[in-house]
Amino acid sequence: MADMPQDWVARSLRSVWHPCTQMQHHANGDNSVPLIPVSHGRGAWLYDHEGKRYLDAISSWWVNLFGHANPVINAALKDQLDRLEHAMLAGFTHEPVVRLSEQLSEMTGKVLGHAFYASDGASAVEIALKMSFHAWRNAGLSDKQEFVCLQGSYHGETIGALAVTDVALFKDAYGPLLRAARVVTSPDARNAQDGESAQDVARRAAADVEKLFEERAGHIAAIIIEPLVQCATGMAMHDPLYLTLVRELCDRFQVHMILDEIAVGCGRTGTFFACEQAAIWPDFLCLSKGISGGYLPLSLVLTRDEVYQAFYSADVTRGFLHSHSYTGNPLACRAALATLQIFKDDDVLNRNRARATRLTTALAPLAEHERVRNFRQRGMIWAFDAVEPDAARAATFSRRFFASALENELLLRPIGRTVYLMPPYILSDEESDGLAERTRAVFDTVIAS
Ligand SMILES: Cc1ncc(COP(=O)(O)O)c(C=O)c1O
Repeated sequence: MADMPQDWVARSLRSVWHPCTQMQHHANGDNSVPLIPVSHGRGAWLYDHEGKRYLDAISSWWVNLFGHANPVINAALKDQLDRLEHAMLAGFTHEPVVRLSEQLSEMTGKVLGHAFYASDGASAVEIALKMSFHAWRNAGLSDKQEFVCLQGSYHGETIGALAVTDVALFKDAYGPLLRAARVVTSPDARNAQDGESAQDVARRAAADVEKLFEERAGHIAAIIIEPLVQCATGMAMHDPLYLTLVRELCDRFQVHMILDEIAVGCGRTGTFFACEQAAIWPDFLCLSKGISGGYLPLSLVLTRDEVYQAFYSADVTRGFLHSHSYTGNPLACRAALATLQIFKDDDVLNRNRARATRLTTALAPLAEHERVRNFRQRGMIWAFDAVEPDAARAATFSRRFFASALENELLLRPIGRTVYLMPPYILSDEESDGLAERTRAVFDTVIAS
C-alpha cells in the first residue's frame, strides 16, 4: 500500500532532526509550523504528495538557480553517472574538476588561478580562514592570527565559520567555544543618517576598518566580507564603494581580503561575481550554493597565485594539508559545468535584468505599503522590513508569514521581520506577477491577523 503523505510528516518528526528548527514548533497544536513532505519538483515549483504546489521563491535556501529537475543539468548528471561517480582528489584528478577550475579562473581574468574544493559553504569558509593564516605563517608573519568580520555577518555554522559570524541567535549558545573575531561597522545602507547617501555610509564603515588596521594590522590575517548583500542577517545591502575602499586598505596594510560569495555569487546580485561591481578581486573567493545549480553539495575557494605560491615548497608541512572525502566530487563538478553552460547559452545575466525590472515594478504597491520600510533590491534579491510594533506579534511574524505563504502556494521564509524574495532565474512573466501579487496578499493577511 502506498505511504500516506501524513505518514511522511509523522515519520520525519520521529526520525529526522531538521536544520535550523526548534523541533517543538512542529508539534505545537494550532500554532504548529507546517512541515511539507515534498514529492517532486519541476521548474520553479515544489509539489507535495497531494498535488499542492509551492513556488520556490527563495530557491530552496538560495541554491536553485535554474529550477528543479532542470533538463540540462539532469542530462549532464546522467551522463556523468555512467562515467565516474567519485574518485579521491589526492593523487588523482578528473575532467570535470579540471574543466570547472579552468573556467572559474578564466571568469576572474585568471587573477584567481587555483580552486580548492569542499562540499558546504561553511567548509569553504574554514578553508579560506586556515589558508590565510597559514600563508602568512609561511611568509614569516606568524603573528597574523586574527580575523575581522562585519556586524551582522553570517559565514556558516561550523566552529571557525561561526567565530566570524555576528548573528546572536546562531552564535550566542556556542560563545565559549569560539575564538573571538574583531567586528567592524556594517556598511548597511539602512544605517544612513539624515542627508547621508549609501556611499557616505560605505565611507564611514571603511574608516572603521582603517582605524582597526592602523592599530592591529600586524596581528590581522584577513577581513571576511559578504559582498553587496549580507543575506542571513536580513538582506542588508551596501554600496560597492565599500569593497573598493576595503580592497585598498587590505593592500596598504597587508591584510588578506576574503569575499564570501556563497550566497551572492553566481549572478545573484546582477553580475556573476558580486565583487565585479566594485571592479576588484579578493585574495580568496568562496563559492557554494548556486554553483551546482542547487543539485549537489559543492563549495570551493578561489585563490590568487601569491597565496598558492606561499604553500609551494619541498617541505610537506608548508603545504595546505586540508581535505574532505568528497573534495571535487565529479558529479557535483559536472552539475556546476552544466550550470555555467546555461549561463552562457541562455544569456542569463542580461535576461535577469529584464526579469528584475518586471518584478520590481510588480512589487511597487508593497514598496509603498504603510507597514513596509526599506524596500530594497539588488540583482535577483528583493527585501523589505515589516513594521510590527507589537513585540509578541513581531516575534512570531516569520512563522506566521511562512504558514500563510504556503496557503497561497508560495515558499517564503522571512528572516525576523524582513521579507525577502530570491527566486530562481527562470520565472515566466506570469509566475513573476503572481509572486508579487501573492506576496502582497500574504503580507496583508499576516499584518492584519
Ligand atoms: C554568506 C554565507 N556564507 C556561508 C554560508 C554557509 O553555507 P552552508 O550552509 O552551505 O554551510 C551561508 C549559508 O547560508 C551563507 O549565506
